[in-house]
Parts: sequence; structure tokens; C-alpha cells
Amino acid sequence: MGVHTDIRLADQGGKDADPAFRADVLNGLAQRQKAVPARWFYDRTGSELFERITSLPEYYPTRTETGLLKAHAAEVAEIVGPGRAVVEFGSGSSVKTPLLLGQMDAAAYVPIDISGDFLRQSSAELAAKFPDLPVIPIEADFMKPVALPASVRGFAMLGFFPGSTIGNMVPRTAVDLLRSMRATLGDRSHLLIGVDRVKDIGRLVAAYDDAEGVTARFNLNLLTRINRELDGTIPVDRFRHVARWNAEWNRIEMHLEAVEDVMFDVSGRPVAMRRGETIHTENSHKYTPNQARLMLQASGWSPGAQWSDPEADFLILLAEATEYRSAP
Ligand code: AVI
Repeated sequence: MGVHTDIRLADQGGKDADPAFRADVLNGLAQRQKAVPARWFYDRTGSELFERITSLPEYYPTRTETGLLKAHAAEVAEIVGPGRAVVEFGSGSSVKTPLLLGQMDAAAYVPIDISGDFLRQSSAELAAKFPDLPVIPIEADFMKPVALPASVRGFAMLGFFPGSTIGNMVPRTAVDLLRSMRATLGDRSHLLIGVDRVKDIGRLVAAYDDAEGVTARFNLNLLTRINRELDGTIPVDRFRHVARWNAEWNRIEMHLEAVEDVMFDVSGRPVAMRRGETIHTENSHKYTPNQARLMLQASGWSPGAQWSDPEADFLILLAEATEYRSAP
């Protein structure tokens, strides 16, 4: 069937700086606790470094979730049944998505991603692997409800949101997203979601501060990107990568810490930082199974089957859209 090019938004590429990037960085650096949203990690170098992170010995989530999908995708297919349109939030990795689609008798595959480049590449790969499956990519921000194309509207949907990406949102935003997925997928839909579990803090910190220093480079690359795209003069070598556990919020936080007092410009705007001051760049929330189930319930989803690994590191959860009815 091949890839239908149903690309909804214009590509944001080009030489000029992305105004959303500039606004996020300038606003973030003007706050008391400086912060830049994690979504800006993923320029070409950042995406390559993230790929390397996923196979680091300390970074267990990717291989554990892959193992869970290998072991249980057939059960997922059995529960949801054939003829589903599988809607993936974020462009599918060439490894995880085929594990699910290979077990499903799916009617269509609809990847949604804000990055047109990734979307086109991963869609083409998927279409080559599953030549009989209609692949209908949509370039859109899935944080808001997305209008699905008419060609799939008649099918019941299976949403797929692997990778523990939900953990990169604060719980309030995570609930907003899950609610908007419920709106996108509609009644009769299911959602298969990957969640990273609360565990030994030493292992968690190591997963975000690996011995080889790949995660440090991933984090510091954000400063290099700001310098390149926003005319920044940040002395990157005067910053160090920090990964720490926030017990109140059950999350790993990544920061970039100034190792001495520094002054620099971004897009002509002066910024000063004291030694020890940080730029907060990422949250990665960890959940117990009960917390994950409660979050789904709070968002219009009824959690059903769940699968975890023997070390209790990671969880995949299958939920069904809760029927809307008035409270008792
Ligand atoms: C994409 N996301 C789920 C990763 C995580 O584990 O929070 C991003 C990451 N940051 C550092 N290492 C991996």
C-alpha cells in the first residue's frame, strides 16, 4: 500500500531560527530556576546521541520494553482483536513498532509526529516492512487532539505510546496528554503505553549519568545548539551535566550546572549565571504500577492488562477508553 503523504503542517526547516525555540530559550533563561524544555534536545546530533543512549549498559528502559513487547505483543493483539488502526504517538522506532504490528492484523498504521523528517523516514521503513498495511503519517503536535484522516475514522483505534515518553511530562501535563489521546482515538479505543517504574535510586541515576558520558554529551549538546541556532556565546566547557533524583516528584532531573560564574548572550540578550547555578533541562518521572493506573483513570482510560519484567524495571499497560456516563 505504501505511504500516503497526508502531511498536515508545513515543514519548519530552513536556515532561520525556529521562533518557538528562541521563545522557549529566552523565557526559560529569564526564570529564577533557569529551564529549557527537553523537546529541544533533538536536533540531528541530539537524536544521534539519544540513539546511542538507548543501547548503553546503564540505560535499561529501551531493551526492557523491547523484551516486553516481544513477549506480550501477541496477547495485546488477542485482547484488542483484528481490524484496528494503530495510531502511534511519536515516530515509531524501527525496532518497537514492528514487534506490535507483526502480531496484529491491523487495518492501518498512523504515526503522528511533529518532526516531518523523522516521520517520513520511519513511515517509509514501516511501509517497506509491511507492504500490505496502509501507512498514513500525520505531521502534527500530538499534545493536542488530532483530527484523524477520514480513511481510518471507521476503525476502532489502538493508540501506541512506548518509550516512557509520558515520564518526560509533569503529571498535570501527562494527564492533559492522555485526555487528548482519548479525544483523538475516540470511543471503543485502546491505548498501549510504556511506563518506567520507580526503583533503586543508584540505578536510576546511573541510567542518566552513564560511565561513557554519552548522556552528558546529549545534555550539553543543547548549549551547542543554542549557540549555533540562536547566536549564543555560551561557554559550553564551563558547564557540567548533572542527573539527580527528586524524591518529592519521583523523578530524575537533568541539569546543566555552571562550574564558575559565567556571562553570555543568546540572540543579543545578556545572561549571567553564578557558579553552581543550573539550567533544568529534563524531567523523567518514574511511577509505581498503581500510580500509572490512577493516572490513566484520571484521564478517561480504564487500565486492564499490564506486563512487567522480572526485575520490575518497566511496565507496559493496556487501557480501554472509559465510557462517558454520569457519575453515580
Ligand atoms: C525520551 N525519554 C523517555 C528519555 C528518558 O529516559 O526520559 C530521554 C532521556 N534523557 C536522558 N536519557 C534518556
